[in-house]
Amino acid sequence: MAAFTVNGKRVTVEKNQKLIRFLRDDLGLTSVKDGCSEGACGTCTVQIDGKPTRACIPQTDKLEGKSVLTVEGLTDFEKQVYTYAFGQAGAVQCGFCIPGMVMCAKALLDGNPNPAREEAAFAIRNNICRCTGYVKIIDAILLAAELLRAGEVPAVPADWSLGARVPRVDVEEKVTGTGVYPDDIYMDGMLYASAVRSQYPRARVLAIHTEEAKALPGVAGVFTAADIPGSNKVGHLKKDWDTMIAVGDITHYLGDAVCIVAAEDAEILAKAKALVKVDYEELPMVRNPQEAMAENAPLVHREGNLLAHKHIQRGDPAAAIAKSKYVLTEKFSTPWTEHAFLEPECAVAYPDGDGVMVLSTDQGTYDTQHETMGMLGLPAEKVKVQNCLVGGGFGGKEDVTVQHHAALVAYLTKRPVKVKLSRAESLLIHPKRHPMEMEFTLGCDENGVIQGVKASVVADTGAYASLGGPVLERACTHAAGP
Ligand code: FES
Repeated sequence: MAAFTVNGKRVTVEKNQKLIRFLRDDLGLTSVKDGCSEGACGTCTVQIDGKPTRACIPQTDKLEGKSVLTVEGLTDFEKQVYTYAFGQAGAVQCGFCIPGMVMCAKALLDGNPNPAREEAAFAIRNNICRCTGYVKIIDAILLAAELLRAGEVPAVPADWSLGARVPRVDVEEKVTGTGVYPDDIYMDGMLYASAVRSQYPRARVLAIHTEEAKALPGVAGVFTAADIPGSNKVGHLKKDWDTMIAVGDITHYLGDAVCIVAAEDAEILAKAKALVKVDYEELPMVRNPQEAMAENAPLVHREGNLLAHKHIQRGDPAAAIAKSKYVLTEKFSTPWTEHAFLEPECAVAYPDGDGVMVLSTDQGTYDTQHETMGMLGLPAEKVKVQNCLVGGGFGGKEDVTVQHHAALVAYLTKRPVKVKLSRAESLLIHPKRHPMEMEFTLGCDENGVIQGVKASVVADTGAYASLGGPVLERACTHAAGP
């Protein structure tokens, strides 16, 4: 137990817990964003006794007598200053990192009203921004310093004519933390659900033992593929992705869901997930396209390991290369790339008549609707999807990950539910930018002007199709330059 102040009000915390959980779940201070819960990203930065601190690190029992400040606790004038400065500097995009950046800025400017550029940069050294980069955020901090020194905030430009410079319309809600991302939604009677993931990249699921988890007080249900009313398969362009791996079927990667547990709170959920036991028959895995193309390779999907083969040709490259003065052949490779959006995937769903409503952080609202309709076996008018703010995506939130799971649990339990990935789950589950192995032959004339290009590209789309076909096609169309 500990007593301290939050935004000037005295609070008493009975249960020792991470500060971020107390601020968000108990006090509803949702400007404190949960980007990783591991002290790495800085989105949950608050001030403790004036020092910027990541709220996912300290336990509440250690805060006796201390003073905690979040963006909600800034004065109205400070909120105006930071909104204007971040808006004018163009420092806000997805906004998920911004409240944490503002708290770093405040800690700096409280002690140093006229900082040098390097000092502003140093103040945000522990905070990651994936969208905006840091130059504009540093500009915003320096502009905020100027406004605080002047003691007034200019009027926001009102000229919206073509070519005029205007701030984003959502700057204020993103700076002050009032904007709603799905994780900021708390509903009465809301369940928390999460999938138990495969223990092996490739294994046959022999049995799923859910009895112990179901018997735990506070568990609302444990659902398997057998509970899905419609089709188990989802996928934007190719329906090859199992909502859950059914008993008897084979897993495709470590991110595969085997069952979904729903519980009254996140702690019970974690305990219940640990009580689910799955019997597997481990099978040889396929780790890359070379292994996938080998003779007698294990099949990742029943119909084979090749998603797409594209051949794109313009003119006669072989003849152009043959006539070239110089010819060069080189091999290139690009790695997996994680999109690293700051907001992990999260969706809230609730019953809506005899259908469902899904609130999500989504790159394709209608895709989520279509895939959820198929999985639930419902017509379009019974599956509604609304996008909340999206804390970055960059292509990594194209596929459904949590949306259809949330919809399924809401539909089966008739209760609201939140499904949120931890940072580790997020990294494991969503597809990455495709690694490619490429061999290029280029022919050029004596001036270095390229005459012809022949490129062979092998792309690794991972366990599922996702957008692998169009990505390969784009690699081919771009291979020879513009
Ligand atoms: Fe910084 Fe999106 S604006 S992470």
